[in-house]
Amino acid sequence: MTGSPDPTAPLVDRFGRVATDLRVSLTDRCNLRCTYCMPPEGLPWLPKQEILTDPEISRLIRLAVTRLGITEIRFTGGEPLLRPGLVGIIAEAATLTPRPKMSVTTNGIGLDRLAAPLREAGLDRINVSLDTLDPERFVQLAHRRKLPETLAGLAAAAAAGLTPVKTNSVLVRGINDDEAPALVRYALDHGYQPRFIEQMPLDAGHTWSRERMVTAAEILAMLEKEFVLLPDPTERGGAPAETWLVGDYPGTPRVGIIGSVTRPFCGDCDRTRLTADGQVRNCLFAREESDLRAALRSGASDDDLAQRWRVAMWGKRAGHGIDEPHFLQPARPMSAIGG
Ligand code: GTP
Ligand code: 5AD
Ligand code: SF4
Repeated sequence: MTGSPDPTAPLVDRFGRVATDLRVSLTDRCNLRCTYCMPPEGLPWLPKQEILTDPEISRLIRLAVTRLGITEIRFTGGEPLLRPGLVGIIAEAATLTPRPKMSVTTNGIGLDRLAAPLREAGLDRINVSLDTLDPERFVQLAHRRKLPETLAGLAAAAAAGLTPVKTNSVLVRGINDDEAPALVRYALDHGYQPRFIEQMPLDAGHTWSRERMVTAAEILAMLEKEFVLLPDPTERGGAPAETWLVGDYPGTPRVGIIGSVTRPFCGDCDRTRLTADGQVRNCLFAREESDLRAALRSGASDDDLAQRWRVAMWGKRAGHGIDEPHFLQPARPMSAIGG
């Protein structure tokens, strides 16, 4: 990365990958405490003055879309629906040319009120975390009694046309690892696309263990006992989820498995991440970040910010390295990265 930069050069890395998908974390706070993410007592939240303001986020999104080739934006958290300015940030991004595709990954709480305004603002679609259909297990997994809110949020997203609505389920051994078929049926009966995620070493307590993780192969075997799964002919591209068609359901809908640990997809990664406090992360598992907030607040130009972002992505490593002997979990937990 030397010489005078092309002001519209995309986000490429040394391995030839091009990032076109931006994941923006809007807050590190959450109203749940999923065991694989946050401790029950919560975490020290980022101080307010360190969090990007709505205009700062909109500026970075604008330059990502107009100068860096970003075509898709995913809003995450913590819990992104807790960000008061969410609807406005989406409305602002919807005015950009080319207009980015926009989606939110949420736990669904509050979506019953927000789904319609989000749709009107220009949001295209939604993913909702749904680990269990049992209210008591929900309390065990998320330390809050909120299953009805999540289910109402899912229904509201579909009713508002934020489709395809996808569900995300993390199976935790001994709690909900027998629930995969029931979760698939619930999702398909409601017109949602079910997906299962291998638990990744991103929990705040650093308690993840490979032995306890429910693997993609196990999930697939459980599903194949109950459903006829057929290969999906559509191209996967950079998507984390491997998908199958459910042959014995009307309309052959899809089911997905995200095997981040045992079936890594880093070679096709097309993602860049911005944290709520304005740091660029070139990987979910990155150990270094690039501070756009400091640059932005000290008067950096759009050219300068865009070039800092390019340099941050150029340094992206080939893979997450979970299998390497000296793998170290990132300092930030999942809730402060956004998944
Ligand atoms: P769509 O299928 O496009 O809706 O999105 P998605 O599956 O990429 O996004 P979502 O936010 O629903 O994330 C689902 C799971 O995939 C979460 O556990 C994320 O942490 C994980 N994930 C998303 N992006 C990456 C990535 O770049 N690397 C890895 N290893 N996992 C990712
Ligand atoms: N491993 C895998 N998925 C996780 N999520 C949160 N923490 C983890 C983890 N440690 C999931 C949430 C949500 C998505 C953003 O990431 O359940 O669906
Ligand atoms: Fe909140 Fe999502 Fe973490 Fe659960 S996984 S505690 S819903 S940020």
